[in-house]
Amino acid sequence: MKIAVLPGDGIGTEIVAEAVRVLNVLDLKFETETALVGGAAYEAHGHPLPESTLKLAKEADAVLFGAVGDWKYDKLERQFRPEQAILGLRKNLGLFANFRPAICYEQLVGASSLKPELIAGLDILIIRELTGDIYFGQPRGRRTAVDGHFPGAEEAFDTMRYSRPEIERIAHVAFQAARKRSKRVTSVDKANVLETFQFWKDVVTEVGKEYPDVALDHMYVDNAAMQLVKEPKKFDVVVTGNMFGDILSDEAAMLTGSIGMLPSASLNSSNQGLYEPSHGSAPDIAGKGVANPLATILSAAMMLRFSLNQPEAADRIESAVKQVLAQGLRTADIWSAGTTKVGTREMGDAVVAAITKKTITG
Ligand code: IPM
Ligand code: MG
Repeated sequence: MKIAVLPGDGIGTEIVAEAVRVLNVLDLKFETETALVGGAAYEAHGHPLPESTLKLAKEADAVLFGAVGDWKYDKLERQFRPEQAILGLRKNLGLFANFRPAICYEQLVGASSLKPELIAGLDILIIRELTGDIYFGQPRGRRTAVDGHFPGAEEAFDTMRYSRPEIERIAHVAFQAARKRSKRVTSVDKANVLETFQFWKDVVTEVGKEYPDVALDHMYVDNAAMQLVKEPKKFDVVVTGNMFGDILSDEAAMLTGSIGMLPSASLNSSNQGLYEPSHGSAPDIAGKGVANPLATILSAAMMLRFSLNQPEAADRIESAVKQVLAQGLRTADIWSAGTTKVGTREMGDAVVAAITKKTITG
């Protein structure tokens, strides 16, 4: 087994280091190779996703990814911006299925901006299509308008599009995931306005007929955004397109109180995957040793489960995380009065200790 480790920028290096330490105490046989990505790669090689990094990612069984981005690259030409690295990895590895769980940990109920009773026990799985939609649709660009409200004016445009097979495969992923949970799928669209999402709805409905045991409902994206803060526990598996998924997954993540807790997995059709925390590179706190490494540690657990076929090892990580929370340890983002504030490294130490103690006592 080979894991490509791509820490990236900002807090990426600190949090990935903790996840790697956790992986190393599990006594598994795997090899890791680290490479630069994002702004760090741009500085060293002139490109956010150098050929060598892409090659390593393609050859590996899984990619453990930190985060990319920094405001200082905002003025670069788009192709050189750090975000292009993650988009390039998704596209080149065909990582079309993005799993973003939003789970509210019992001990962190108070960290949410919503009332505890609304989010206690929350467990949503957002499945976001990740290689299509307006993110990748061609053509796109800038030009002089020939029609519209201001003919002759400078304009910019993108293309929203989905093909039947793209929708079918993500729908299958969602229905299969629902079978392992409470057998409910909500498909989020904008069929009332957009041709692309009327088609999305039609195709998801067709695929749903193959899963008579799974209840399917449809919701417009604006309503979904509202229902997520009104009654989030109504949702179980949510499947949606790339752009709506980008927005709703941040919203769902924040319901749980801290985006610093949430892992994610992006898979292709051969279960090769990229695993990354749902949060970004947080340049404002980078290098201070205060970032929460738990989302990355939990992403490593998802990696063991989905790509490396080591479900027991994944369970050990997840229960170690619950244990350190139960011990009252909190990084700054999830700290509240009465708990113990720790830094990135100490949090990693605590997870490692919880795992190794488990090993000894069986
Ligand atoms: C995400 C991020 C990315 C996206 C950016 C960094 C390109 O927001 O993974 O949700 O928009 O997909
Ligand atoms: Mg996003």
